[in-house]
Formats: sequence, structure tokens, C-alpha cells
Amino acid sequence: MPTPMAPAERVIRRPDDWHLHLRDGAALAAVLPHSAARFGRAMVMPNLKPPLDTLEAVLAYRERILSALPAGMAFEPLMTLYLTPHMKPRTIRDAAREGVVAAKLYPAGATTHSAAGIDDLEAVRPLFEAMQAVDMPLAIHGEVTDPSVDVFDRERVFIERHLRPLMHDFPSLRVVLEHITTEQAVHFVSDGPQRLAATITAHHLLYDRNALFAGGIRPHLYCLPVLKRARHRQALVAAATSGNPKFFLGTDSAPHGRRAKESACGCAGIYSAHAAIELYAEAFEQAGALDRLEGFASLHGPAFYGLPPNEARSTLRRGPWEVPKSYPLGKADEVVPLRAGEEVAWRLLPSSPAAGHT
Ligand code: DOR
Ligand code: ZN
Repeated sequence: MPTPMAPAERVIRRPDDWHLHLRDGAALAAVLPHSAARFGRAMVMPNLKPPLDTLEAVLAYRERILSALPAGMAFEPLMTLYLTPHMKPRTIRDAAREGVVAAKLYPAGATTHSAAGIDDLEAVRPLFEAMQAVDMPLAIHGEVTDPSVDVFDRERVFIERHLRPLMHDFPSLRVVLEHITTEQAVHFVSDGPQRLAATITAHHLLYDRNALFAGGIRPHLYCLPVLKRARHRQALVAAATSGNPKFFLGTDSAPHGRRAKESACGCAGIYSAHAAIELYAEAFEQAGALDRLEGFASLHGPAFYGLPPNEARSTLRRGPWEVPKSYPLGKADEVVPLRAGEEVAWRLLPSSPAAGHT
């Protein structure tokens, strides 16, 4: 019997990206159109240099994003605040009032531009209390920075050492464990209360750690948390395609210039904004779960953050296209995107201007 083919076209509500790095200046202008073409909204990370740790800095960045948006593109940046050890609870309350959607916890030293982050979670309990009081979700980069912990175990250890006690100590704080990479994270989130959720990237659904070393070292597949072994990738695919509303889309698209990646000490970050929803469609098709893509990409995130889903629709069509070897990143640099020079199996059809509204 011939195997029934899944339909070659999918229409879903326009998706949102719940974890995105847009950078600033010329890099922002270069990468923003990729995300704006695919997503109605994106939760924008605050790890600029200097970090966005005041309300004024966050709101000024929001204005720069909106100014960099090409005319006619509808896209709403959802802003986040960078938690620092010196922050006052009042900053949390002011940010919540101004519509900042979440505060981001970077353990100090865990990743790119995280040096200003938190060393000691105990010392910032008043910030978590303030967040709990105003119901502002806490978005967490969940890795320990303890150098004695193996880099592949840092997420698992963070959950036991820090996240489990935090969930216990702040019983109504809403928490998003960002870009999860392990089966332990999948289980912790699945077994936790409704106020605990997780984002999952396309690259962690499509690649395991072997890809980092395929024929030689692959700096453009290096990100944090680093890709894990196949068993973990399978657990992530199962979670993303399960229909469980605790899991939703967050690309963690993180552009770095080619020179910063192809270096003796290359930066962490994978650029995926150019093909983000298409890559998720590939992962969901491989799992035989395309019918679950809309929930993961367009419904679960807004439900968690208390926002309505987008009204516009996006059409994805099966059919390969070749990703450029690089995209310009400002005047003097370029970014090497995920799948550079290779094919992506799905394409996003251009939306009519009327459908461009979020
Ligand atoms: O790979 C990553 N890149 N992980 C992060 O947590 C930060 C990001 C970046 O900003 O480049
Ligand atoms: Zn990130």
C-alpha cells in the first residue's frame, strides 16, 4: 500500500518567537527582517553590552527595534529586563507596569554577555518576590557555571541545585526554563506545576552533539546550552510534538559575525532566524506531527504569557530551497546561518500585506 503523503501545504496562525537575540545597531537592522517575516511577536533578550537592566534602557531598545523595522512589516517586540545583583525591586514593578513581559536570569558567566548576571540566587530573593507579586514571569538560562561540572551536565545540575528549590520557595512565581536541551529538563517541566514552562529551539530538535564534530569542528553549530546526545534530542522532539502547552517555540537565534565564530575561542550562538519556522516544520514533519506545529509555534506561548494568539495566518509549503552561505551583518561583517549552503525542506509563502498584521 502506498504510504499516505502528508499535505504539502500547512496553514497555521502566525507564530511567535519566545526567545530571540536581535543585537543592536547595524546587526539589528540586518537580522530583524528575517524574524519579522516569520513571527508576529518575539520576546527579545536583554543581553546587550551594557545589559538592559533599567526600564529606560529596555524602552529605548524597544524604540530602536521599531525604528529598524522595514516599512510595511508588522512585528511586535516583547521586551525583557536583565536581572543584576544590584537591581531594586522597584525596577521590576516599574517594568511590569510598562509592559515588559519577563525578566531574564543569566547565571553570571554562563553565556554571551552574562558577566553582569547573578552569582548568588539567595541574594536576589527580593527580586523574585517582586516578580511573584506582580506576576512577571522569570525566564531562566538554566546552566550552572561551576567549572567542576561537566559542560554537558550543567543544565541537569542547575535544575537540581537551583531550579527545584526556587520553584519551592516561590510558589506562585511563573518560570520559563529557556532553550531546554536534556531529557531531565523535559521531565522536570512536564512533572511541574502549570506555572512552569519551557522553550525549545529548532537546532536542538534537529541536531545532536555529533553534528558539532561531523568531519571536523563546526563552530557554527556551537551554542549554549551545547547540543547534547541523541537520547536528549529525542526527548525534546517528543516534548515539542506532544501537544503539551508547557512547551513552546523559542529560536534562541543568536547572530555573531563570522570572525567571532571562526576563531580560536569562538562565540556561542546559532543563527536560525532566516529559516526558523521552516526548520521547525521539518522537525515536526520528521516526527509525523505537523498537525501539532500550530500549538507549539502559535498558541502555547501566548497562552502562557496571557496574550491572545495572532489573528494572521502563515502558509508553509513543502519544497526545498538552498540557504545562502552567509548574510550581511552590518557593513563589515557577515553571519553564517544554520544550514548555510544546504537545503531546508519547507518554505514560508510570502504573506499579503493585509495578512501582515500580527
Ligand atoms: O548560544 C547562545 N548564544 N546561548 C546564549 O545563551 C546566548 C546567545 C548569545 O547571546 O549569543
Ligand atoms: Zn538566548
